[in-house]
Amino acid sequence: MKNAEKKQQKIFSSEKEFRRISSKFSEEGRIILHLGDSCGFLKTITSGIINLVVTSPPYNIGKEYETRNMIDKYLEQQEKVIEELIRVLDINGSICWQVGNYIENGEVFPLDVYYYGIFKKFGLKLRNRIIWHFGHGLHAKKRFSGRYETLLWLTKSDKYKFNLDEVRVPAKYPGKRHYKGEKRGQLSGNPLGKNPTDYWEFVVQDWDNGVWNIPNVKSNHPEKTIHPCQFPVELVERCVLAFTDEGDWVLDPYCGVGSSLIAGLMYNRRVIGCDKESRYIEISKERLRDYFNGVLKTRPLGKPVYKPSGREKISQMPIEWKSKDDY
Ligand SMILES: C[S@@+](CC[C@H](N)C(=O)[O-])C[C@H]1O[C@@H](n2cnc3c(N)ncnc32)[C@H](O)[C@@H]1O
Repeated sequence: MKNAEKKQQKIFSSEKEFRRISSKFSEEGRIILHLGDSCGFLKTITSGIINLVVTSPPYNIGKEYETRNMIDKYLEQQEKVIEELIRVLDINGSICWQVGNYIENGEVFPLDVYYYGIFKKFGLKLRNRIIWHFGHGLHAKKRFSGRYETLLWLTKSDKYKFNLDEVRVPAKYPGKRHYKGEKRGQLSGNPLGKNPTDYWEFVVQDWDNGVWNIPNVKSNHPEKTIHPCQFPVELVERCVLAFTDEGDWVLDPYCGVGSSLIAGLMYNRRVIGCDKESRYIEISKERLRDYFNGVLKTRPLGKPVYKPSGREKISQMPIEWKSKDDY
């Protein structure tokens, strides 16, 4: 087949895929993207069908898409959503709940601590409290600047999926050998790499920070949209690979611009997303169309986070701050 024909066929099949997006849940569906309130939408999903819930809920911090409430009221509302999520979750399924802090009058309320209590009340079991570290963000004046958020990985039962081999990362010392005992001299690692641990370093929305303007770092963020708190797709990719198999259902009840759906589709999972903001749903559709057409830019899973070498002009002490002794 000639190249142009091949390309056309790809676009045709991509459009066909794109047209399979439905706004209503159906057990036969593959991509469901719903505009509306998540609590109401979840009621339309069959019980026990979802293999992975992966999401970042609103933090109640007054972002453009939320109204700030007292923390108790906010958690009360979230509890209703969580109850529905647990109902739709498969007995072997997982929930990945990614949150940061809620701040009131300068006091920090670590949201994962509050959420843990809710999940525990419903009988879920915590498997990891993952630290998601990122290098840049707002600079605090009256406390240390926050540079991590957490992701609670919880399961509905003790029989849960965990595909560690799918998410191993290159070992630092693959040539390391046992130095004593029966295995002396044998390689001690795993040829597939090492466990990625519960400390994840994925690039966050550096594009939010005007202060961070090293051009080649910015160009490391090909996923930017207008959403103020977008997931890096690679963060969801790791969850999808570790906690689900091909054909499984991945659900994000607060899907924003569709990052979780993209990560699920990349590995042939069935995906469901819901968001109450039409502008984000429209961007999700655009991103899905780009994905099917092979033009969506995402940061590849496992690509090392850029670290300045110290030789860049921006990494050097500005002349105004140097003392005479430095000359
Ligand atoms: C932290 S953001 C999630 C962003 C998402 N992870 C992404 O990558 O784009 C939370 C999202 O929840 C949505 N949201 C807030 N309350 C909602 C509700 N009651 N029902 C559905 N979506 C809601 C907001 O519009 C926002 O996009």
